[in-house]
Amino acid sequence: MIRPQREDDRDAVRRVVAAAFGDDGLHVVELLGALDGAGRTRVDLVAEVDGAVVGHVRLSQSWVDAREALVEVLVLSPLAVVPAAQGRGVGTALLAAAVEAARDAGTPAVFLEGSPDFYAARGWQRGSAHGFARPSTRIPDAAFQVVVLDAWEPWMVGPLVYCDPFWALDAVGLRDPLLTTVEQMFDS
Ligand SMILES: CC(C)(COP(=O)(O)OP(=O)(O)OC[C@H]1O[C@@H](n2cnc3c(N)ncnc32)[C@H](O)[C@@H]1OP(=O)(O)O)[C@@H](O)C(=O)NCCC(=O)NCCS
Repeated sequence: MIRPQREDDRDAVRRVVAAAFGDDGLHVVELLGALDGAGRTRVDLVAEVDGAVVGHVRLSQSWVDAREALVEVLVLSPLAVVPAAQGRGVGTALLAAAVEAARDAGTPAVFLEGSPDFYAARGWQRGSAHGFARPSTRIPDAAFQVVVLDAWEPWMVGPLVYCDPFWALDAVGLRDPLLTTVEQMFDS
């Protein structure tokens, strides 16, 4: 079952995110808190199985810096499923529910950084194919993904500008040596 996160889910969500992201877990948990503190959180959904929270997805506010105006958009990050529940469709269901929530909110586009194999199979496309620019060249082009929704208009293109917590916590893109390894993967 996918449902909005409740206040009393907060600890369970932190545990889910920490478990899903392994060595990076605490850093990602810190990002959740920083987005809340900065007032940028827009949607939190959880996946529940047998009464336990096993997955979570967050949408937060960012902007596309279009020539005519700043356009409010959403960034999907993080998406997390506890290792024991992975591979059973929970992540896919959370992703679909988050996109629906963004559509219902009248958002023109949702962005994320992630594996093109996983996300392209679920309807996501390269941001650059639509005229969006990455907020950092440390996000490989193939990993900069977007879903364009009903409220999007053709002038709403330009660079994605992440809200401050992503920068304050150095949570944008990859850094070397991992960056070089991933770039080589995409080139080959
Ligand atoms: C990525 C993640 C959310 C997927 O959740 P899930 O419930 O296992 O996903 P589903 O069961 O719906 O789908 C399984 C698919 O995910 C793929 N997958 C699992 N982990 C993945 C990963 N880290 N990167 C890319 N693909 C991954 C599986 O290969 C499978 O692909 P297929 O359906 O094309 O064969 C989950 O594995 C997770 O929490 N990983 C750690 C945190 C993370 O990397 N989050 C995403 C950041 S962009």
